[in-house]
Amino acid sequence: MNSSEFFTEAKRLFPGGVNSPVRYYPPNPVYFRKALGDTIVDVDGREYIDFNMGFGAMIAGYGNREVMDEFNRMEFNLMPLGVPNELEILLGMEISSSIPSIEMMRFTNSGTEATMHAIRLARAFTGRKIIVKMNAGFHGSHDYVLVNAGSGALTFGTPSSPGIPQEIANTVIISDFNNLGDIEAIFGSRGEEIAAVIVEPILGNIGVIKPDDGYLRGLQKLCNEYGSLLILDEVITGFRFGYRGYQNIVGINPDLTILGKIIGGGMPVGLFGGKREIMEMISPSGKVYQSGTFSANPATMAAGLATLKYLKAADYHYLNRMADLVENILNPYIDEHEIVMNRVESMFQIFFTGSRVYNYKSAMAADSRRFMRFFKECLKNGVYLSPGQYESNFIGFMHPPEDVEIAATVMEGSIESSRD
Ligand SMILES: Cc1ncc(COP(=O)(O)O)c(C=O)c1O
Repeated sequence: MNSSEFFTEAKRLFPGGVNSPVRYYPPNPVYFRKALGDTIVDVDGREYIDFNMGFGAMIAGYGNREVMDEFNRMEFNLMPLGVPNELEILLGMEISSSIPSIEMMRFTNSGTEATMHAIRLARAFTGRKIIVKMNAGFHGSHDYVLVNAGSGALTFGTPSSPGIPQEIANTVIISDFNNLGDIEAIFGSRGEEIAAVIVEPILGNIGVIKPDDGYLRGLQKLCNEYGSLLILDEVITGFRFGYRGYQNIVGINPDLTILGKIIGGGMPVGLFGGKREIMEMISPSGKVYQSGTFSANPATMAAGLATLKYLKAADYHYLNRMADLVENILNPYIDEHEIVMNRVESMFQIFFTGSRVYNYKSAMAADSRRFMRFFKECLKNGVYLSPGQYESNFIGFMHPPEDVEIAATVMEGSIESSRD
């Protein structure tokens, strides 16, 4: 069967034919069968250079030999499930020592779960109800955070979803990213009721939007002043820009941190962690309930450990050099046309707009229909970008310079042919 035939079957089985909305694009998504290094292969045997890399999770590449050898060495498949295991301790120690604000943590099976539990915990710890989140900030797909959310929710024009009780949406206040004045005003009027501010350090689900200098430190200061918790969602940024969190780069010390993606090395994972006195409120040491049959399962812990071991020894400058290559190829073209490339080291996105993209409103002003034409042109020519304007693209350690050059050249041509 080809992709279109698979999709016919899939539509009968899955809503919209997919198991996560951002995987869909018309008329049907391409179905993939294999991956090696930086290349993914579809069901017809066509190869694509992948700049999505499992939405950033596969930073070490697919089938990385060093990672795979280490992964297999741990014999995770001989371990029982649902019981304490030694791998969770090893991975926990590695994470805590590289991101010191995470004194204590809980593993979950997704970023969504982790933000949900962190918010419950923040509410319990502060005895307050209100959560502040950023316009188009994305923290997974549960009720507390699906209010003016980014990613697929934006693609489909449903900033908040039906099925979420208004009472819950009323506990979430939306602030404009990169606008300290806005959040100061929110704290000025409701500060004593705010349990937490939850924020991605770099917005990664509305394209890529970097925090202005001092913005994240400003958020931390406000939270400290009002006794609210700062929850830093590093699901994308954790271990992406070096063997650390983005918090270590900007010098902030969040109360709680969320991790996911990279720390699972391609297996389902999430984590929330932070200050000991807060985390100790989690059951069974405290009363805030949280659990999971598959939490810290051996396969995930082994994949996470193998990946982190590889990353610890890796030269992250390599990723920057490869992203520079993309930028250098695209730059002359971008400068001549109304195109913006937002990039933070190895994470980037293209916007078809003549103006700076620094928040929700400026991102929405870009031509997202042209973006989809651009995406499809790339796809046709063997480059798989993240399938949506409101996503990020990622460079990994198994992108060789030759492929990066080919992919960037395809992108350049696709920008041209995506004109009306
Ligand atoms: C910043 C951020 N937080 C949370 C999530 C949710 O993670 P998951 O998809 O593992 O539930 C995502 C997913 O892309 C994310 O980018």
